[in-house]
Amino acid sequence: MKLLITGGLGFIGTNFIRHWFSVHPSDSIINLDKITYAANPKNLIEFEGKNNYRFVKGDILDTDLVDPLVSQVDVIVHFAAESHVDRSIDDPLLFVRTNVLGTYTLLNAAHKYQKRFHHVSTDEVFGSIPFDSDEQFNELTPYDPSSPYSASKAASDHFVRSFHKTFGLPITISNCSNNYGPYQHPEKMIPRTITNLLAGEKIKVYGQGDNFRDWLHVKDHCRAIETIILHGKIGETYCIGGLKKGTANIDLVKNILSLMGKDESFIEYVPDRPAHDNYAVNWNKIHQELGWEPQYTLDTGLRQTIDWYQKHQDWYQDSKKEAEIFYQKLADYKNIHK
Ligand SMILES: NC(=O)c1ccc[n+]([C@@H]2O[C@H](COP(=O)([O-])OP(=O)(O)OC[C@H]3O[C@@H](n4cnc5c(N)ncnc54)[C@H](O)[C@@H]3O)[C@@H](O)[C@H]2O)c1
Repeated sequence: MKLLITGGLGFIGTNFIRHWFSVHPSDSIINLDKITYAANPKNLIEFEGKNNYRFVKGDILDTDLVDPLVSQVDVIVHFAAESHVDRSIDDPLLFVRTNVLGTYTLLNAAHKYQKRFHHVSTDEVFGSIPFDSDEQFNELTPYDPSSPYSASKAASDHFVRSFHKTFGLPITISNCSNNYGPYQHPEKMIPRTITNLLAGEKIKVYGQGDNFRDWLHVKDHCRAIETIILHGKIGETYCIGGLKKGTANIDLVKNILSLMGKDESFIEYVPDRPAHDNYAVNWNKIHQELGWEPQYTLDTGLRQTIDWYQKHQDWYQDSKKEAEIFYQKLADYKNIHK
């Protein structure tokens, strides 16, 4: 099989390409990535020069670049996005551009050459689960996005589905919960917590830390996408989540503190983000229809992730500096406008 992966130098795309080559070593992959702040060009360096891997630096909005790439492959697996909720509060238009117009550009190319298209989306499109509720999102949950990020992903999901209904494009969509694991940018909650602790610094918790979400290990996510590409039903959506339902942020942070041998004096409570959601995902459909289930417990996944960041401090030093500058800018903005 020949695959076009978009955003393959980001967190999940990198893990996905590694996973795909480990299971399908004779398949070919083209990796199209713009190399934004979220990418790390060194992530897949060992594949450079192999005859079944090709990296193309470019923008998914560039039709002249995208069209010939799409024409050469069997499947497009679309990860490329602006993916950080806090940055979407800072610059919503960028999210419209990449997540909505970028997806539209890829869909047009897929339609032109009638290619299979898998769209990687998020459970954040469904909005928020009330506190004290055991509700879970599933494939029938109405869309109710809260942030510019989730609104842009929701719009992209609608475009993907519309290209199936209107033009018969062979698509599938997956909506998954928060991922964690190796190669995640240190701006995101789990790596930011781990890397702060590795530097002996305090960790930031929004509000009182009572917002909750499911955590999906990135390797479980990659296996789920592989399962959908190989066995999923065309036109369908699949929700993907982790083994443990609805962990409160404060419990997650305390778990990491204990695994890293630190006490709760390292916690610093900071003002909450606007429209902070709660998420939990019901993954019965992909389990019952395609036989997928997560393998990582949160405890095993966190231990492995902490170990990875401990051993890869060079990998994140530059991006950590950039992330902390961003957070300082956001805090200054909130102070001026409170
Ligand atoms: N990380 C999560 O917890 C999570 C959860 C649910 C869904 N998702 C979705 O999974 C996908 C991948 O997420 P991630 O965490 O790996 O994101 P990421 O931010 O780590 O990586 C995004 C990648 O896309 C690339 N990119 C951005 N704009 C581009 C453009 N215009 N053209 C080409 N490449 C571009 C970046 O350079 C980067 O390599 C996204 O679509 C995201 O919405 C992520």
